Amino acid sequence: MKAENYEVRPAHFDDIPEMCGLLSELFSIESDFRPDSQKQADGLGLLVGDRSGLSAVLVASDGNSVVGMCSVQTLISTAQGGPAGLVEDLIVREDCRGKGIGKKLLSEIIEWCVTKNISRVQFLRDIENLAAMEFYASNGWKDTKLVCMRRLL
Ligand SMILES: CC(C)(COP(=O)(O)OP(=O)(O)OC[C@H]1O[C@@H](n2cnc3c(N)ncnc32)[C@H](O)[C@@H]1OP(=O)(O)O)[C@@H](O)C(=O)NCCC(=O)NCCS
Repeated sequence: MKAENYEVRPAHFDDIPEMCGLLSELFSIESDFRPDSQKQADGLGLLVGDRSGLSAVLVASDGNSVVGMCSVQTLISTAQGGPAGLVEDLIVREDCRGKGIGKKLLSEIIEWCVTKNISRVQFLRDIENLAAMEFYASNGWKDTKLVCMRRLL
């Protein structure tokens, strides 16, 4: 099945169990995170239920199953002088990769950003995830000199 046969649409609450499965796979790749279905379901519930207009969560579906997802949340950037987008949770089910679904999800997330006057998008990538680096580079994303630091509260 080709990418054009997969529908990309806003996520529904009913999609959350399948999205948790995808995030479990993603957080198994990223060594800073641990899969935890309850936490992922709680976070997705907040995102899917967000009516502020400041976030979007999209899924790719083959009509029966959710095979991919991506989210974006808005920040105010003083560097940009306006809204910027933090892209997260991009994953395509392993058996559906290489068909253009990731590209389609990302391009629809960017279209949403454009409608919100977002002038810069960024994401965090596990330093060892070289495949994701290749994917983003082939979609026109540039490296930065920023590194992520964090403190759990
Ligand atoms: C990264 C990921 C979302 C890409 O999704 P995908 O549906 O397989 O990618 P696509 O088929 O849409 O590929 C789009 C482009 O990226 C390129 N690409 C995809 N994966 C690539 C890889 N591993 N190495 C090099 N190029 C790659 C494709 O060749 C294609 O290039 P083109 O536009 O010139 O034809 C998917 O591999 C994935 O889910 N990986 C595991 C989770 C992950 O790493 N997420 C990113 C976290 S930062």
